[in-house]
Amino acid sequence: MIKATQFLLAGAAAMALAACATTSEAAATPPASASATAVPIAPVEPEWARPDPKMDAFLDELMAKMTLQEKIGQLTLLTSDWESTGPTMREGYQQDIAAGRVGAIFNAYTAKYTRELQQMAVEGTRLKIPLLFGYDVIHGHRTIFPISLGEAASWDMEAIEKSARVSAAEASAEGIHWTFSPMVDIARDARWGRISEGAGEDVFLGSQIAKARVHGYQGDDLDAVDTVLATAKHFAAYGAAQAGRDYHTVDISERTLRDVYLPPFKAAADAGVATFMTSFNEYDGIPASGNKFLLTDVLRGEWGFDGFVVTDYTSINEMVPHGFSKDLAQAGEQALGAGVDMDMQGAVYMENLAKSVEEGRVDMARIDEAVRRVLEMKYRLGLFEDPYRYSDQARQEATLYKPEFLEAARDVARKSMVLLKNEGDVLPLTVQAKSIALIGPLGDSKTDMIGSWSAAGDRKTRPVTILEGLQARARDGVTVEYAKGASYDFDAEGKTDGFAEALALAEKSDVIIAAMGERWDMTGEAASRTSLDLPGNQTALLEKLVATGKPVVLVVLSGRPNTIAWADENVDAILHAWYPGTQGGHAVADVLFGDYNPSGKLPVTFPRTVGQVPIHYDMKNTGRPIELGAPGAKYVSRYLNTPNDPLYRFGYGLSYTTFGYSPATLSAASMGPEGSITASATVTNTGDRAGEEVVQLYVRDLVGSVTRPVQELKGFEKIMLQPGEARTVSFTLQPRDLAFTRADMSHGWEPGEFQLWIAPSSGAKASIPVTFTITE
Ligand code: NOJ
Repeated sequence: MIKATQFLLAGAAAMALAACATTSEAAATPPASASATAVPIAPVEPEWARPDPKMDAFLDELMAKMTLQEKIGQLTLLTSDWESTGPTMREGYQQDIAAGRVGAIFNAYTAKYTRELQQMAVEGTRLKIPLLFGYDVIHGHRTIFPISLGEAASWDMEAIEKSARVSAAEASAEGIHWTFSPMVDIARDARWGRISEGAGEDVFLGSQIAKARVHGYQGDDLDAVDTVLATAKHFAAYGAAQAGRDYHTVDISERTLRDVYLPPFKAAADAGVATFMTSFNEYDGIPASGNKFLLTDVLRGEWGFDGFVVTDYTSINEMVPHGFSKDLAQAGEQALGAGVDMDMQGAVYMENLAKSVEEGRVDMARIDEAVRRVLEMKYRLGLFEDPYRYSDQARQEATLYKPEFLEAARDVARKSMVLLKNEGDVLPLTVQAKSIALIGPLGDSKTDMIGSWSAAGDRKTRPVTILEGLQARARDGVTVEYAKGASYDFDAEGKTDGFAEALALAEKSDVIIAAMGERWDMTGEAASRTSLDLPGNQTALLEKLVATGKPVVLVVLSGRPNTIAWADENVDAILHAWYPGTQGGHAVADVLFGDYNPSGKLPVTFPRTVGQVPIHYDMKNTGRPIELGAPGAKYVSRYLNTPNDPLYRFGYGLSYTTFGYSPATLSAASMGPEGSITASATVTNTGDRAGEEVVQLYVRDLVGSVTRPVQELKGFEKIMLQPGEARTVSFTLQPRDLAFTRADMSHGWEPGEFQLWIAPSSGAKASIPVTFTITE
C-alpha cells in the first residue's frame, strides 16, 4: 500500500540521485528469479461478513421451510417498468411476486411504489421473505453528478466518495437497497461507448476510485438506512471488447486479465463490495456468466468473496447465441455451476432450474449456497426486521435534491473538468469580455447535461444548461446570447442551416464559447462509434467561428475522448466538461469565469485519430521503439502518417496557474524485500492564483521475466497551493506495490532496477527519472 504524505518545503532532506540507467544498460541485467518474492493475493474480510450466529440460526430455520420453487425465487431478479403515467409491472410479474417466485426487483423506486411491491411479497407470500430492490444508480440518483469518467478526472477520492454517498442517500430514501454500481471496467478504446461509465484506462487510479465508490455507497454499515449495497461490474474484461464494439468478443491473455482488468475488481472486493455482476462478453472462449474460472476460482477461491453474484441483463440466456449452451436449461445449469447466484431478467432459473434439480443435473447444495448468500444480504440490510424501512415517504420528501446535494454535484462537476488548452490566457474570461456568444448544440440542452445512465434523473427541467449557468453568473453589463448553429446528429454532416445566425452572433461578440460534443446517448451501453470526431456539422461550424478572428473557447460535452486535433491547433482554449450533471451549467460558468480554478486531469488518453486506438499511456516498449530510430526511420514501431503520441496524455490537464516540479529524490537507492523507499518532489505554485495540482508518481520496471510497461502510475496526491507556495509531496513504495503476473504466472515483484518520476502527467518526461533497485 502506498502512503503519500506531504510536508512543507525543505522538510525532506532526501538524497538526490542522478539519472539514470538507460534501457540498453538495464537490458544486460539477467532476468530476476521469481520464487522468493511472491505476494499472495490475500482475501480481505469485509466488516459486514463478520460471523453472526443469530443470523445463521434465523436463516437455517427459514431455509428449512423453503420449497425448491421458493428457493429459486430468491435467485430471480425481474424488472419493473416506467410509463409516462408512472411505474408498471409486466404481465404476470405481480402474480410471480405474490407466489414467491421472485426475490428481487429492479427499476422500481419511490417510497410508495416499493412499499406496494414489498407488501405483495411480505403479506402475500407464505414465508414473508422481503424483496430486494436494485437500480442503476450510477452517477447520482435524482441529483445527478458528472458521468463516472468525468468524476474520475477529478482524481479527488473524497469528491468521488461524496458523490456515491449522496447517491445512496437519495436512492435509499426512495426504497432502493442495491445499486448496480460501480462499473470498474478498465477501458482503453474510446470507440466503446461504455468508456463513459468507468474510471478510465488506468489500473491504479481505477482501483482507488473503485474503493472510494464502494465506500461511498455502502458506508461502514450495510444496516444503516441511508446506505445501499454496491455492485462491482462487469466481471470481467468487458472493456476489452474487440474493435470497441459493445458486447463483442474479448480475447486477452490471462496475464493482461490479471494485471490490467482484474485489479479494480479486487480493490472493490477488498473494500467490501456486497455483490458482483457478470459481463456480457466471453473470456477465453467462455461467456462470463458461465465462466467458472472467473466466478469461482478467482472470485471465491483466490479473493474469498462472500457476497452474491448477479448476472447482467439476460446474460444467461445469451449463452445460447454465444454458442456455449444448447438451450436455456443447459445455460442455467452452466451459470449456476460456474458461480452465478442470481439471474437478472432472464427467468432462466425460474423456468428451468427445478427440472434440472429433479433430473439430477444440478446440485441442491449449490442452490442452497446461492440462496443463502442472497438471504444473508437481505438480513444484513435489516429487511427481515422491517421490510419497509427504506420505503419511507417522509424521508423521501426530506432527502431528494437537498441544497447540499446540489452544491456537492456542482462542486464535483467543476472538479471534473479538464482544461486542455488555454493559449494567451483567454480563460478565465476577463472583464473585457462584455458580449459572449454561446454557440453550439450543447449550449442550451437540458437533456444532454446529465449524460447516459442517469436513470431516475430529470432530463427536462432540473438540469442547468451552460446558457443558464453563464447568464446567472454574468455580471451587470455583460451579455450572453445563444445560437445553436450546428447539430451533433450524424446526418447533419454537410448541412449549414444554422451557420448564418451563429456567425452573425459571433461577429458582434467579444468572445465565442462553442459548446460542442456528442448527444448524451452517443456514449453508454450499445453506443459504440467508429469515428471519434465531433459528430454532425459541428467542426465545420467551428472552422467558420475560428475564421472570424474572435477568441474561441471550445467547451466539449462528451462521454469519451474525442479526436479534436484540428480544434487543438486552431481554437484558443478547450475545456473538456464531460456530461457535468444537474448543476453542470453553473459548474461550467464557475470554471469559465475563474470562480473555480480547473484542476481535472485526464483519466484516459485522447488520441489524435481513431486509428491510434486502443491507446493508453502504460504501453510496452516493443523491440523497436520509435526513439531508437533516426527521425522518420522506417523499421521502427510507428505509423507512416501520424505520430505515435496521442493528442493529450493520461494525467494531463492545465490550471489557471502554473506549477514547478523539483527533481524527485529518494530516501534510499535500494530496498530489500521487506523494505520501502520514499520518493519526494517539491511542487511550487509558480503562478499568481491559488490552484490544485494532481502530483503523479510513475514507475518503470526496467527488466522483467516478462516485458513491463514503459510507465505505470503508482501513486498520486491532489494538493492545493497558494501563489508562491511550495510543498514536498512524498510517496512510500514497498516491493509489493511493484508486483505483477510473472513468467510463471505467480503474482509478485522481481528484484532489479526501476525508474521513477514524480510529474504533472504521464507525458512529463522532462522531469528526469531517478533509479532505485530492489535487492534479493
Ligand atoms: C445492462 C447493463 O450492462 C448493466 O450495466 C446494467 O446494470 C443492467 N443492464 C441493469 O440495468
